[in-house]
Amino acid sequence: MRLALFTALFAAQSALAFPWLRKEGFDALFNHPEARKVLKGTLEEYHAGQSGKVKRQVNTGVGNGVITLLGGSVQAVLDNVLGLIPTNDAVRGLKKFPEPAHPFRAPGPTDQRGPCPGLNTLANHGYIPRNGIATIGQINAGTARLFNMGVDLSTLLATGGAIDGGDIFSQKMSIGGRDDRVGLLSGELNAIFGTPSGIAGHGKFNEGDASATRNDFYLSGDNISFQPELFKQLHQQALARGNGTYSVEAIKEHFKNRYRDSKAANPQFYFNLPSSGVVMGAYYFIPGFFSNGTIGAGGIANEASITSFYGAKPSRTGRDAWRDPDLTYTHVPERIPEQGWYRRATPMTIPEAVAGILDVYLYSMPPMGGSGAAQSWVVGPVNIPNSPQGFSCFLYNAIFANFPSEIFNSVRLVQAVVNGLSRLVVPGYKALGCTVDYPDATGAAVPAAYDRWAERYVGKAKLEAVGSGWYKGDRS
Ligand code: HEM
Repeated sequence: MRLALFTALFAAQSALAFPWLRKEGFDALFNHPEARKVLKGTLEEYHAGQSGKVKRQVNTGVGNGVITLLGGSVQAVLDNVLGLIPTNDAVRGLKKFPEPAHPFRAPGPTDQRGPCPGLNTLANHGYIPRNGIATIGQINAGTARLFNMGVDLSTLLATGGAIDGGDIFSQKMSIGGRDDRVGLLSGELNAIFGTPSGIAGHGKFNEGDASATRNDFYLSGDNISFQPELFKQLHQQALARGNGTYSVEAIKEHFKNRYRDSKAANPQFYFNLPSSGVVMGAYYFIPGFFSNGTIGAGGIANEASITSFYGAKPSRTGRDAWRDPDLTYTHVPERIPEQGWYRRATPMTIPEAVAGILDVYLYSMPPMGGSGAAQSWVVGPVNIPNSPQGFSCFLYNAIFANFPSEIFNSVRLVQAVVNGLSRLVVPGYKALGCTVDYPDATGAAVPAAYDRWAERYVGKAKLEAVGSGWYKGDRS
């Protein structure tokens, strides 16, 4: 049994960037006696929950009275829906931060931090667990509370993070790199299945090339650390285009330059949906979430706010220091501006985020593509829809609709769990009037279709250059 397990996994590992998300990986999983038992129990509980046989308490927050999955290590699928969506009171209106109940504390040596300054700030103030290992529900709650991120948007991002870089059963992910506290059976099976990459996992849903202040994974293997030089370039655009503020105009120009430089320097440059959408969205998040007040309603992405959330410490702090285009920075832990900062007043939902992505995209119209099999640039695989609705539907389809469920369709048990998770994003999806259309292949043809797609547009070398950047808290 064990030999078969390892053989199957070895074959699967070399085949694809996400080995355990393949049929071979699942077959091996189901042949593992211990895992089989736990999965069976998990799914029985899940289905019982779906059919209402398990009593749930509404509005009790994380984990209270809700079904427990997988060896007690996890929160229930429905916890997100029932326990964590904040009330209107909590998210409407300008609210001042920091809050005394959430003091800043710098991360310890084993705490995970990653490429996302938003999530790093949330962890440094305890809005999500300070160790940087969080569930989808905790991320939904934290992002709504501090940043007023709409639950549709946070669910889309965090579910993508859990499916591709975390553990789908526990809905947990590391907000940085690999970590053995995350994984099947609370990480106990990681020696066999590998440790989930964390949201910094390159070649997965979230992390991509040409980021605003992080290097491409291929260049140094470090796609996590803040790069002072890149922040300096961003600051220069704030001075040149934003009158000193990190406005939408400033970040669009910075993105244009970052795409150009990254493509020139990185022979494995890859810029395709969905990860390219996350990258461009993250650019929009800079003014969209970090502004002091509401963007478009007087809120300003000023130097004090942006540097604090980014942990960008200027080398000089004199009155006019920020006017200096040659000002340099070092990195300190991300935090809410100490002098006080106002959260945006209305939630940023998917339509606003998608409009922001399109704005960033249409400014420079960067070709979507990858280094391809021959390591020469291949454009594709699709033309980006140029309306927010079309683009949102594409993203949903690419990530959640057919992609996971069809790949797993011969493995019905896991399909049910993945579909259960994917269903979390359905309300937003339906509201946009999307139809499911990606990928075209169904059934047993899907793994082969995916392989062909990956080889053509991603390239072999790129598929192998998958991982997550180092961090001193990497515990795997
Ligand atoms: C809801 C869950 C979230 C997830 C899973 C997530 C994940 C990520 C990931 C993977 C990246 C790296 C993208 C890249 O390669 O450029 C990133 C970057 C970024 N995120 Fe998040 N994020 C989330 C929420 C937020 C929030 C609430 C904010 C702002 C308040 C935010 C602001 C940013 C910014 C500004 C960057 C760009 C970092 C850079 O300078 O390179 N994110 N995020």
